[in-house]
Amino acid sequence: MKPREIIPDVQYVGAPDFDRRLFDSLIPLPDGTSYNSYLVRGRDKTALIEAIEPSKLYVLEAYLKDVPKIDYLISNHTEQDHSGGIPWVLDRYPGIELLSSEPAKPMLADHLGLDAGRIRTVADGERLELGGKTLRFIYTPWVHWPETMSTYLEEDKVLFSCDWFGSHIAQTGLFVDGADCILAEAKRYYAEIMMPFRKVVQKNLDKIKDLEVALIAPSHGPIYRDPRSIIQAYREWTDDKPLNSVVIPWVTMHGSTALMVERLTASLVQRGVAVHPFNMASADIGQLAMALVDAATLVVAAPTVHVGPHPMVFNAVVLANALRPKVRFASVIGSYGWAGKMVDMVKAAIPSLKVEFLPTVIAKGLPRQAEFEALDALADAIAEKHKDLGL
Ligand code: FEO
Repeated sequence: MKPREIIPDVQYVGAPDFDRRLFDSLIPLPDGTSYNSYLVRGRDKTALIEAIEPSKLYVLEAYLKDVPKIDYLISNHTEQDHSGGIPWVLDRYPGIELLSSEPAKPMLADHLGLDAGRIRTVADGERLELGGKTLRFIYTPWVHWPETMSTYLEEDKVLFSCDWFGSHIAQTGLFVDGADCILAEAKRYYAEIMMPFRKVVQKNLDKIKDLEVALIAPSHGPIYRDPRSIIQAYREWTDDKPLNSVVIPWVTMHGSTALMVERLTASLVQRGVAVHPFNMASADIGQLAMALVDAATLVVAAPTVHVGPHPMVFNAVVLANALRPKVRFASVIGSYGWAGKMVDMVKAAIPSLKVEFLPTVIAKGLPRQAEFEALDALADAIAEKHKDLGL
């Protein structure tokens, strides 16, 4: 199998994975994913960027079958979907030099059991000459782990960005062929992987703002021939200002909480606020994460199981806390039978969200007129708070 040309002397040797449906035993992959790897051939030296996920190593092996010599293996990121094939590459090319960022060196040793003596670290901004092709290493921490770097090919202005700007999608084409479509995939990816590090992502965006970038070649999903749209999207997703929207993860057992969610949703819509309700009994948590990217308010809606929130909703609460979206306000609504600590438990579970808590509405059994009026008042309060933010 021949490496696939992206531009002269830059080739694709990665693998789509059409069948994978879950990443990290957590993240749904409705459209599969890809593990991208690239060959950069200079006049004198050749570099391989990333060594892909072990389950697809046979694809990399096939691409490299007729590549007798590679001088450098560049590991931008230690997570195994990019580094898992490193031991095989080191075996296949005994003279190859493995390059990584300084913080990656111990991590590669820890995660892959590599001999740290085999790793040469490169500094932020350091250049590697291949002969007519110059690679520059740019430390871009926390996209997605603390050690992550990007690699920039100066002559051709290609940014090998690793995880950031990536998307979980499998396709046979190498390039983005529908900008709107891929932005939705990239937003899902950002929401699930990058959002907890939003502030650092902003700094990394600043770091590359004066870089001329003709192509972004990420390690998941297709290559951007016009990178402006994805860079602008990252600017918007990481921006501190949310949108005029509310996310409601909910579930119902006997209908009470469903009635409350319906009333609050209708009431918010009447006040011009967009609402994204997710029934956690069947919701795709990737869609929930995407809605959290922009939302100004999180309303947790759950019935009480024993004394706490229904576990399916509590799972969404824990996830929201881990993803650290830019939400500014939060509330809890729901129902209970005879006793409950649901509100306290939800509040205690979201310490990473810097939110102002708005009044809660909890019904004993079926919601009645008083609870419906309280939900309308909560909608008033949310709309007012959003207005105060200029949304
Ligand atoms: Fe694609 Fe952080 O691994």
